[in-house]
Amino acid sequence: MSPALPKNIKIKNTRKSGVKIIRNIKEMVTVSKEYRKKNKTIGFVPTMGALHQGHLSLIRQARKDNDVVVVSIFVNPTQFSPREDFKKYPRNLKKDARLCKQEGADIIFCPDAKQMYPANYHTYVTVEKLSEVLCGKSRPGHFKGVATVVAKLFNIVNPDIAYFGQKDAQQAIIIKKMFADLSLPVEIKVMPTVREKDGLALSSRNVYLNKQERKDAVVLSQSLNMAKHLIKRKILDSRKIIKKMNELIKAKKTAKIDYISIVDLKNLEPINRIREGCLIALAVRVGRTRLIDNIILKFKVKS
Ligand code: PAJ
Repeated sequence: MSPALPKNIKIKNTRKSGVKIIRNIKEMVTVSKEYRKKNKTIGFVPTMGALHQGHLSLIRQARKDNDVVVVSIFVNPTQFSPREDFKKYPRNLKKDARLCKQEGADIIFCPDAKQMYPANYHTYVTVEKLSEVLCGKSRPGHFKGVATVVAKLFNIVNPDIAYFGQKDAQQAIIIKKMFADLSLPVEIKVMPTVREKDGLALSSRNVYLNKQERKDAVVLSQSLNMAKHLIKRKILDSRKIIKKMNELIKAKKTAKIDYISIVDLKNLEPINRIREGCLIALAVRVGRTRLIDNIILKFKVKS
């Protein structure tokens, strides 16, 4: 059950599907303050909407852990380059509100871009080094936009725990680092990647794929599974593993590799020999859609 709203707070905004929709930054700040005064814990799930089971798994966990669940839906312009899909990014607040209600979220915070970035906006957060590798190479400025919006959302929502997906491993690592470096008093939980039956990681961008591309897209998770098998067979040379993954992906006509990397989970620096706690990450363009996936090697590697 959703906790009752604080007595002195009036939510003027529309209510859709029983979830409170707050569009105004000041109002979100006030509501959050009131919940905190009443010692309610706040769980926060930042999203860009077009919600799928991956997002819902985060909301579900937030629901389990907290008194109040806030989901933000904001397609953040500063994390898209001019060439990217900001304009066509899927948006459907009505459907999202229904899903949020179904998972027991209490508040959807969906400010508009003018409020978040008024004309005189000049402040950005950059997490150096970690933002320059992997996806940061082909999407310069992307993680600066992500870190900035997440820092801003945290200041507005003031949560106890925030939830992120393993699917965007680099993003989660960068956000954790930003929190540690800026001493932000929020706990971060990273939840496992939710996948389609055939292994494709759920993503709001999967809707862009045509039939052939959708078939070919499964090669990302297939290549990661192959890497796992190779490692179990004691092939521990990163170059050999990357080469095999490369071959598998290149065999798909619609797929074009952006990168395949095996890196240290903490500093994202390349590692030559597989060990426990490394991250295998890749980005592949399938048709015109850029997809990402990754695994973390949690098991002990026997050499
Ligand atoms: P978005 O792509 O909407 O993702 C919101 C959250 O859902 C992220 O933490 C992401 O890692 C998680 N997620 C996406 N697909 C998932 C899957 N298949 N399994 C598990 N979790 C998944 O990531 C963003 O938005 C933005 O960059 C944001 C953090 C909101 C900042 O604008």
